[in-house]
Amino acid sequence: MSTFGRKPPVTQTPGGQDRAGGGLYARDRAWHPAPLTPPYKTSVARSPMRAPISFPTTLSEETGPVFTHDMLGQLDADLIHNYAKSPDGAIGPRIVVQGRVLDQDGRGVPHALVEVWQANAGGRYRHKKEGYLAPLDPDFGGCGRCLTDEFGNYEFRTIQPGPYPWPNGPNDWRPAHIHFSVFGQSWGQRLITQMYFDGDPMIWHCPIVGTIPSREGIESLVARLDMEATIPMDARVYRFDIVLRGRRQTLFENRMEGL
Ligand SMILES: [Fe+2]
Repeated sequence: MSTFGRKPPVTQTPGGQDRAGGGLYARDRAWHPAPLTPPYKTSVARSPMRAPISFPTTLSEETGPVFTHDMLGQLDADLIHNYAKSPDGAIGPRIVVQGRVLDQDGRGVPHALVEVWQANAGGRYRHKKEGYLAPLDPDFGGCGRCLTDEFGNYEFRTIQPGPYPWPNGPNDWRPAHIHFSVFGQSWGQRLITQMYFDGDPMIWHCPIVGTIPSREGIESLVARLDMEATIPMDARVYRFDIVLRGRRQTLFENRMEGL
């Protein structure tokens, strides 16, 4: 699968996940932000007041809907054109985002649904509660989606979003980012995250980014500029790999199946 980028997609390490496989790995709570992080004001009202209860996963978490290409529209993965009335499309720096959806064992996750939403090139969302002065772009909606191929590759085309201010502290700004919702092969694998851009100084001023406990964790959310894949006179390419919660593999004699 490579509709927009120039580089061929990764084809080794085929997706080995089996819907009837074992349970899911427990999340590493030290890697993810703590639920209560007061510098990110909204977390105060949203975070639970009691410790979460842990229980083994069951079929409710280990299964999920099946996504197929015929569920997607032709322009779903092209945010430059999927809302535009003008043939030129949305205003802004043209980019392609490519990457893989992997599980914790490094296996590609096939047929994962990748949904994205973002502000326009000026940093403005198409939302009735948006309070930023930057103008709307009549040719940019800000939403898109795609499916991973059998090896876990995904890609979509869009414009680079701008940073924007938000009413958290007196002068807080979000770095340029794209929101991701990734649906793997079960409810328990679902991941909501954000992608940032290589070299953006605003990353290090953001109270939401500041909730992530380690520098390594933050770096894992920064997409890398891939000049080899960049399309001359058209679009730059950013690479962003996403790791979903893994699935324990069924033991086969003395080795793990699929490894
Ligand atoms: Fe945002």
